[in-house]
Amino acid sequence: MALVTTTEMFKKAYTGGYAVGAFNINNMEIIQAITEAAAADRSPLILQVSAGARKYAKPAYLMALAHAACEDAGIDFALHLDHGADFDICKACIDNGFTSVMIDGSRFDFDENVQVTRKVVEYAHAHGVVVEAELGKLAGIEDAVNVSAEDAMFTDPAEAQTFVEKTGIDSLAIAIGTSHGAYKFKPGQKPQLRFDILAEVARRLPGFPIVLHGASSVIPELVEEINRDGGKMPDAIGIPESMLREAAKGAVCKINIDSDIRLAMTAGIRRTFVEHPDYFDPRQYLTVARDEVRKMVHHKIVNVLGSDNKA
Ligand code: G3H
Ligand code: 13P
Ligand code: ZN
Repeated sequence: MALVTTTEMFKKAYTGGYAVGAFNINNMEIIQAITEAAAADRSPLILQVSAGARKYAKPAYLMALAHAACEDAGIDFALHLDHGADFDICKACIDNGFTSVMIDGSRFDFDENVQVTRKVVEYAHAHGVVVEAELGKLAGIEDAVNVSAEDAMFTDPAEAQTFVEKTGIDSLAIAIGTSHGAYKFKPGQKPQLRFDILAEVARRLPGFPIVLHGASSVIPELVEEINRDGGKMPDAIGIPESMLREAAKGAVCKINIDSDIRLAMTAGIRRTFVEHPDYFDPRQYLTVARDEVRKMVHHKIVNVLGSDNKA
């Protein structure tokens, strides 16, 4: 089994009316849970690595774990750099065996974003690696990119078309109302996605794969479970899964999920300690955490992405 690019995955996802899940990895249990779920569901898969993950787990461990998961789960998947801040980190990951990189120039103005993205595309394509870029700004907190809710800026479809033509990228992340983290909307606010912008982007870029970041649904049952026994998560609201399912049927070929993995793990670990206050072997609660992530990824594959039996 091997690390592969997203090219074929996205072609099939676009015509098949589903999306591929891009799940963030941070440790062995998360990698095992995601790859086991994808293998069991025969789903295409993208594992993605943020700057925070590299700092926490170290690149050498993440790369070794990804290769081990390929072998152990018996599947092909793409290994993707999430929110690459500059050319140097993209180059380092390409040189290290990643099959896909994101250059996130969304904090720059249009021309600067084009410039840095174009440079990454030239290097990546010369090495058989695909490139995702971002246009428009998501509210919330992401690696190296802090964008306040007030600065949130939806993607302009005409700019998106020009951006794709000028850069030669393989996929584009757009801002249509999703945002990173567990607190996507204020309490009382109604979650909304700008499907009109998505439709216009798709009309201008027929067949071109669109990416949604910040696409966790912040599943209410998990937040409830975390708060049941003294947890103190404030009200958290995510993107309704029905909206993501709708987006996946069209031009959206990649949906990024990290926060829901965190919630599933934490809910499992908190429940374990409430039920078994005597536990002290990390394998006891990490086994539960791994099971919860596996169940969550299965749920996303079947109910949100529609990617089961598509590998
Ligand atoms: O987009 C951001 C991802 O959820 C990664 O988050 O920087 O905390 O690893 P992180
Ligand atoms: P969430 O925080 O909604 O899971 O988004 C993750 C993401 O976009 C990673 O790039
Ligand atoms: Zn993101």
